[in-house]
Amino acid sequence: MSHLNNSSVLLSITTGLLLLVQALPQIIANYNIVSYGAKSDGQTDSSGPLSSAWQAACTSTGSSTIYIPSGTFMLKPVILNGPCKSKKIIIQIDGTLVAPSSYSTAIRQWIMFKQVDGVSIYGGTINGQGQTLWSCKSSSNGCPAGATALKFSNSKNIMISGLTSIDSELYHIVINGCEGVQVKGVKISAPGNSPNTDGIHVQMSTNVTITSTDIKTGDDCVSIGPGTTNLWIERVTCGPGHGISIGSLGKEKEEEGVQNVVVKNTVFTGSQNGLRIKTWGRPSNGFVKGVLFEHALMQNVENPIIIDQNYCPHNNGCPNQSSGVKISGVTYNFIQGSSATEVAVNFDCSPSNPCSGIVMEDIKLTYGNKPAESSCKNVDGTASGLVVPPSCL
Ligand SMILES: *[C@@H]1O[C@H](CO)[C@@H](O)[C@H](O)[C@H]1NC(C)=O
Ligand SMILES: *[C@@H]1O[C@H](CO)[C@@H](O)[C@H](O)[C@H]1NC(C)=O
Repeated sequence: MSHLNNSSVLLSITTGLLLLVQALPQIIANYNIVSYGAKSDGQTDSSGPLSSAWQAACTSTGSSTIYIPSGTFMLKPVILNGPCKSKKIIIQIDGTLVAPSSYSTAIRQWIMFKQVDGVSIYGGTINGQGQTLWSCKSSSNGCPAGATALKFSNSKNIMISGLTSIDSELYHIVINGCEGVQVKGVKISAPGNSPNTDGIHVQMSTNVTITSTDIKTGDDCVSIGPGTTNLWIERVTCGPGHGISIGSLGKEKEEEGVQNVVVKNTVFTGSQNGLRIKTWGRPSNGFVKGVLFEHALMQNVENPIIIDQNYCPHNNGCPNQSSGVKISGVTYNFIQGSSATEVAVNFDCSPSNPCSGIVMEDIKLTYGNKPAESSCKNVDGTASGLVVPPSCL
């Protein structure tokens, strides 16, 4: 040190301090909804306090956390809008958010994020209280469609981790027009007979992963709509429910396709379908290509493997037409377990746009003590390894 002059010693001390300051964790602003007037009495509407906390978090310059403590907070429908100044907003939920117990006629989503970037939700329970609407739907025709419980629209870099969603009026989680979404460790539950309560619906979105998620519901566990690309689903359990479903597609004449989907390590228990692709029987320029279904366990599933290109509810708007959706490059690898019906593998493809490049490898599906069957219409592909029931490709 003796040869160093005072100014260089000072410089090295200053540099050291600067490095120290930079190494300290960034201070995260914390916005507790209770400080904004929310009450955990299960009755007072917390949508105002949540919106105010959101405004504060969204306009803050650094990272921010919105905190929902334990307790039950009633929440009327809210829209949490971006774009935000804050590049990272964490919503930490320790408590439960409950929707009003009576449904509204016009509201289509309960908790909605629009145009946000870098929002993560951790933990918590959201309860959509769908029972009143479901009983309306089961007893009359004039009921509203209902509200999706949690929706992300036109957003980027989203994480939903450890959330529980129960009894949504309509879909539980919708991802629409998004890029980069991770759903993990989520639990979804609604009764097997609750109408249109899809678990997770993805459409017009890319780079979405759904992992370690448990879904019990009254409609599709996961439904994959037009414009979905790069979707990865892994370690998902489904049932009751209508399976993991690509579709319905091809309702519109002009429609975005579905491309690059991986579904692996799934378990289906008592569900209506396992791995399904479903398209309307009517003209469309839509398509499905590049799908890998790998390692699925079926337990008493009505339609373990199914492609249905003749979807036409109530024979309305599509009798005697064929689907324009072109399905190609779909691999089924190591799909095992039990079918609840005789036809365990059903490829009912479009006469005008036959399915092509269907690959079956190592399939073993049983039907009680009787042999299961495969059914093929307008389909081309190959089978290898052990394939039971014998392939009709
Ligand atoms: C999707 O992910 C890939 C691989 O990480 C990346 O190269 C691509 O830019 C992403 N696309 C979008 C639209 O985010
Ligand atoms: C569809 O085809 C069936 C049987 O060929 C026929 O009876 C029916 O009238 C047709 N429906 C329409 C809407 O064309």
